Amino acid sequence: MFAEALEYLITPAEPWARKLGYLKESIAIRARHRRCRSDWAEHLTRSNKFIEAIIKKIGGGDSVLVLGAGTCLDVPIAILCSAFKQVYLVDAVHLRSWSLSRNRKVKRIVKDLTGVADYLITNSQRLPSPPAIDWFLDDPRIDLVVSANTAPQLGAMPLKYLSRHMEIDMAAGKMFEAVLMQRHFQWLNSFTCPSVILCDAVRTMFDPDGSVCSVESLLDQMELGFPAEKWDWLVAPVGEEVGGGGMKTEVHAYCDRLPA
Ligand SMILES: C[S@@+](CC[C@H](N)C(=O)[O-])C[C@H]1O[C@@H](n2cnc3c(N)ncnc32)[C@H](O)[C@@H]1O
Repeated sequence: MFAEALEYLITPAEPWARKLGYLKESIAIRARHRRCRSDWAEHLTRSNKFIEAIIKKIGGGDSVLVLGAGTCLDVPIAILCSAFKQVYLVDAVHLRSWSLSRNRKVKRIVKDLTGVADYLITNSQRLPSPPAIDWFLDDPRIDLVVSANTAPQLGAMPLKYLSRHMEIDMAAGKMFEAVLMQRHFQWLNSFTCPSVILCDAVRTMFDPDGSVCSVESLLDQMELGFPAEKWDWLVAPVGEEVGGGGMKTEVHAYCDRLPA
């Protein structure tokens, strides 16, 4: 607890990343990984192997863009570094990592993938319209884009923040989350290079007694087609969530525009 509080104080982060809770959440994810290492192992292995297999197929290239990179638990960073000249890791916040920060091929970029976070800290009274995203589309050096278990999380922090300032109708909140995901996928779809999507598709919440409390489909109407692979991820065994419950997701893996 003390180590996490200290990390919160000393980690550099944009004002919006602190206010909307991205920094706190990133620290919490890393701490949960430490606690749930064995429960996460298969998910992390499958995520890494999926990306690795795609890199083998395309044979590397100039630059790779990893969206929602976090601390690269689910991304084969060494293989990316050997296959590409430049590895861009994009996230709302980057925790201190000695190995990543001293790696000359890695560039860690702070960016809000929703395009609404900065706006929200001064306009917290209504749900904003998520903008279309076009970053890096005109950069011909990008040879692979990876969305690393991030898309369904895009709405979480903005909604959590807004709900402290205004009443949010449940349907409007769901619609907001869906539009953010759509914008993200439309952006990925606009690249001409191959793209990989690793993404929670079904979320199951458990009560403290282990019974299923809710099951939610997250990718309805996203038109992603059939996943190339899918697997379960026990994100939080029962007892781990606030209130004593748990969470499991079904992760879907997609790849688009692979060379023939
Ligand atoms: C479930 S974690 C993915 C794990 C990460 N790939 C790893 O291996 O550590 C989701 C990641 O998405 C990032 N994220 C969520 N919303 C974001 C946003 N609006 N802009 C940029 N990154 C965001 C979080 O900070 C977090 O690192």
